[in-house]
Amino acid sequence: MNSPLWRDDAPTYPTSPLPTDRRVDLAVVGAGFTGLIAALLAAREGLSVAVLEARTVGAGASGATTAKATVLQGTRLSTLAQTHSRELAADYLQANQAGLNWLRDFCREQGVSTQAATAVTFAATDSGIENVEAEHQTAQALGLPTVLHDSLPAPFPVHAAVELPGQLQLNPTHLLAALVRAVNLAGGTVTEHVRVTGVRADTDRVRLTTSLGPLTARQAVLATATPITDKRATTMELVPQRSYLCAFDPDPAVEIPEGMWISAESPTISLRTYTDGDRTRLLVGGQGHRTGDFRPTAEHVDTLTEWTMRHFPGARRTHAWSAQDYHPVGMVPHVETLHWGGGRVLFAGGYSKWGLAAAPAAALQLADLLQGRPPQLTFGSPSVSGTLKTTLSRQASAPVSEIRNLARTLTGSGGHRGDAPDDSTAEDNGAAVFREGIHPVGEAFVDGRTCRVSLVCPHMGGTLAWNGAEESWDCPLHGSRFTAGGRLLEGPAVKDLKRH
Ligand SMILES: Cc1cc2nc3c(=O)[nH]c(=O)nc-3n(C[C@H](O)[C@H](O)[C@H](O)COP(=O)(O)OP(=O)(O)OC[C@H]3O[C@@H](n4cnc5c(N)ncnc54)[C@H](O)[C@@H]3O)c2cc1C
Ligand code: FES
Repeated sequence: MNSPLWRDDAPTYPTSPLPTDRRVDLAVVGAGFTGLIAALLAAREGLSVAVLEARTVGAGASGATTAKATVLQGTRLSTLAQTHSRELAADYLQANQAGLNWLRDFCREQGVSTQAATAVTFAATDSGIENVEAEHQTAQALGLPTVLHDSLPAPFPVHAAVELPGQLQLNPTHLLAALVRAVNLAGGTVTEHVRVTGVRADTDRVRLTTSLGPLTARQAVLATATPITDKRATTMELVPQRSYLCAFDPDPAVEIPEGMWISAESPTISLRTYTDGDRTRLLVGGQGHRTGDFRPTAEHVDTLTEWTMRHFPGARRTHAWSAQDYHPVGMVPHVETLHWGGGRVLFAGGYSKWGLAAAPAAALQLADLLQGRPPQLTFGSPSVSGTLKTTLSRQASAPVSEIRNLARTLTGSGGHRGDAPDDSTAEDNGAAVFREGIHPVGEAFVDGRTCRVSLVCPHMGGTLAWNGAEESWDCPLHGSRFTAGGRLLEGPAVKDLKRH
């Protein structure tokens, strides 16, 4: 588990050491789509730019994504219109369309291979029909040439479908490599294996503490999916969600429907194909859940595999992996100047698993903000009443543990003793949880070694849960994740777990 298909033949990324004088106009933290595109736009405007990546280029969601780039995003437009307003849905669409256009132009310019594809939102059951129709009506009202169908030919049930032609799909590692090359060509640097552990704004500079020593910049962009080091409103409003992807070698005798599909119902099923040479694979994804769920995570991959075997008999699974993206409580991505950063520290993220168009859109907004220009396009401002409505409806349909987690996301409280799973549940999945005094402690057995760590999250004290599928300790509050031995993987935390 957890080797994305894309890694099989990933191109090498032309990365470089940190700038020798350790002073730049702009430091970008995180080398996913947001960071690399923001860095490229700033470097093309003449700023000296350094991108600092804790792991490797694309190590977050960007290198593990399904990579469907579309403005028909499930039932998002109608949901935004119903939750907030038609005007906000129009702003959101316009910004995403600008992001998609930028992406298409960049890929064309740089020779990144893309395939034109039709995006399809389908009702897998009768209960999804109304949502599909609502999406079609909203999309049409906003000027998109969507087509509504009672059904479509597919080897799985389709009770209704709305489709939008002219969208695109790609291999994300090809896009990431082209972005790194373009940043270099524009005079910037991209450095891997440098973790930023502190960000402090003075009157005229931002001082970054990193695992390779200090670096100062006039401005900084935190393109870290959720803002690292932040313990305030932005982090609290971003709900971390992991989801799963499997790649299959399909039986050539079984027809695969063309297009990029996603179901209107939850849990979602998402499909696309990827053709490399004369080999076509089927990608099936979904089963999203809040990061740090105490339920065994491996069963999500089993569910996706069973669904695929049922509808595509003879398919052979070749890869299974998972990754996380952040879902804002108000449903609208964040692009903002963080108020603790003295006007010099910016953040963009929270794309709810639609970052292929939204990340370029956010980067275009960051480019304006960095130059002191008002952004030409924005995702729109969520209404307070809409945000409250989403929060309440999520609470009404969520299990109790989800409600507790959501409340904690919003209040930042967590780490109570009663939250950890009981020992037997954890042991079933390759780890054990117990108490030393009042402190929760986890013991995992990995590669013949016993690793014992504190289960108190160093970000804000959440209690970590064992993720058996990925052999990691995951925090349900804001999504920090750690290896079995306690080494920080991702999330807003900047420290490893304490060893016991
Ligand atoms: C399973 C899955 C499927 C998806 N499918 C689609 C899809 O089909 N279409 C679509 O539009 N979107 C999809 N998305 C969403 C999309 O992939 C993301 O929205 C997008 O990749 C986010 O990009 P990002 O650059 O903001 O974040 P990331 O790619 O997560 O990048 C953040 C980077 O910051 C680095 N970082 C973190 N902390 C530090 C630190 N302290 N110091 C230095 N670096 C740090 C991380 O290592 C990481 O590389 C999917 C997401 C998931 C999880
Ligand atoms: S408490 Fe915030 S990520 Fe764990």
